[in-house]
Amino acid sequence: MNTPLWEARADLVVVGTGVAGLTAALRARELGLRVLVVTKGDQPDGNTRWAQGGVAVVLPGEHDEGDTVDAHVRDTLTAGAGLCDEVAVDAIIAGGPAAVQRLRERGAVFDAARDGRLARTREGGHSAFRVVHAGGDATGAEVERALLAAASDGRVPVLERHIAVDAVRTPLGQVCGLLVLDSHGVPGVLTAPAVLLASGGLGQLYQATSNPEVATGDGLALALRAGAVAADVEFVQFHPTVLYTGRGARGRCPLVTEAVRGEGAVLVDATGARVMRGVHPLEDLAPRDVVAAAITRHMAGAPGGVDDHVFLDATGISDFARRFPTVHAACVTAGVDPAAQPIPVAPAAHFACGGVVSDVDGRTGVTGLYAAGEVARTGLHGANRLASNSLLEGLVVGTRAAEAVAADLALGVLARCTGSAELPVAPVADRDSLQRVMSRYAAIGRDAEGLAVVGSVLDLSTVDRRLDTRELVEDAALTVAARALIAAAAQRTESRGCHVRTDFTERDDVGWRRSQVVRLTPSGQPVLADPVTAGAVAGAGVAGAVAEVVAAVVGGAGFSRGVA
Ligand code: SIN
Repeated sequence: MNTPLWEARADLVVVGTGVAGLTAALRARELGLRVLVVTKGDQPDGNTRWAQGGVAVVLPGEHDEGDTVDAHVRDTLTAGAGLCDEVAVDAIIAGGPAAVQRLRERGAVFDAARDGRLARTREGGHSAFRVVHAGGDATGAEVERALLAAASDGRVPVLERHIAVDAVRTPLGQVCGLLVLDSHGVPGVLTAPAVLLASGGLGQLYQATSNPEVATGDGLALALRAGAVAADVEFVQFHPTVLYTGRGARGRCPLVTEAVRGEGAVLVDATGARVMRGVHPLEDLAPRDVVAAAITRHMAGAPGGVDDHVFLDATGISDFARRFPTVHAACVTAGVDPAAQPIPVAPAAHFACGGVVSDVDGRTGVTGLYAAGEVARTGLHGANRLASNSLLEGLVVGTRAAEAVAADLALGVLARCTGSAELPVAPVADRDSLQRVMSRYAAIGRDAEGLAVVGSVLDLSTVDRRLDTRELVEDAALTVAARALIAAAAQRTESRGCHVRTDFTERDDVGWRRSQVVRLTPSGQPVLADPVTAGAVAGAGVAGAVAEVVAAVVGGAGFSRGVA
């Protein structure tokens, strides 16, 4: 049963029911498009609902004088450690206020301060209190609730427990639909001239992550197989503070939002010494990559005999349970009272800063294929995402991608399917071995030898399989994502942002102020495209360099509307 047995049709198929996917689907409906949304789990199962801290945005009338969109842009660029695409950063941050306003009109309710304006908190790397939140620390849950409610008026059909396997393409390589497995594992085709990937990230590459089990990099793998390229995949952000629940924690670990530090908590070790003192001028509110790396280094010294976690002392925060109900509940479940004792925490995989190369309108280098949210690499995050910029990106780029699809349909540049499709065969590694070796050698603190070990273990545990179950689709995606990551990480002989090398500890702005582009060989192996330095595209910066490589890789087809 390798060929599709059923078919459905739409103008736009959206993969994913998180903030980017639902925002795009709703906007596409408003524009009169027939939309079909697919998700491999139940509708609320994605990463969005787990987001805690909030949405970083400078809202007119809601903020203290002195905070500006320009300041938010500057903080984003600083956190991104020299690899952000400044054009993308400007566009996405500037689009934030309108995007948040639209979300509120769709029913999302943010917390209010005593003066009636929106309450705002601060997180690592932010120079101002500009992170709006909901339900205290349940912002993602409220965003997801509001978007699902808006979609459930029946005009946005959602196929649950359907997993996207592969893009359907015309003989010229344009995407014109999606091959999926339904909830019984029966293959079918969703025929559509536009497919938007909003399928989230890849935290399941690692044993411990803040991400739910669905975060297996499916969209990245699908896009690469469809001929798109990815960039910045070596930059996986580790959240500095997930709740430590014992040695060898596995799977999704409860997040302890950075807003807890934003409101005064400090990191200490088992002897009570401050972890961030003297490490960075912003101490506990340094950008996330700095804090996660500092904790990792600190743990290696085993102060007080403890080498796998530190503590977050939040005992000075009054009314912790009301302000941070989600974190409080997780702590209580773990037997910790945050009002009275420091919370045990450790870093865990959290966010893919890189992904499918796409512009701020979601267009990839492949006609008919769009990407938004964590799966996409717009250039907003560079080498390290600024906290709470991801819900914002999903809202802004989700909207813009729907508008881009409508515009491309109106222009008649998208293709209708004529070809057939078959479930692909792809390399699949053993998930447990992959997660173990990635956690050991490709997390915070990598070196050439360890990355080579990852490659060898993947070689030994990989076999070619036909992707005819959800598990195989996910394992194949994790395999591609791991291979892409280690290829890029091994090549990048410096430390920058979330990419920390123990054998190349310094940042090298002369050799490495550039993104690396990954594509897939016909046999399904991720390889790096030819290196291009930012300076090689005079005046065009990193985005220009990426565009140059991408244009070479995809032969320029459809890319005049791409990242450049
Ligand atoms: C947090 O609340 O600390 C996570 C927010 C984010 O990852 O942007």
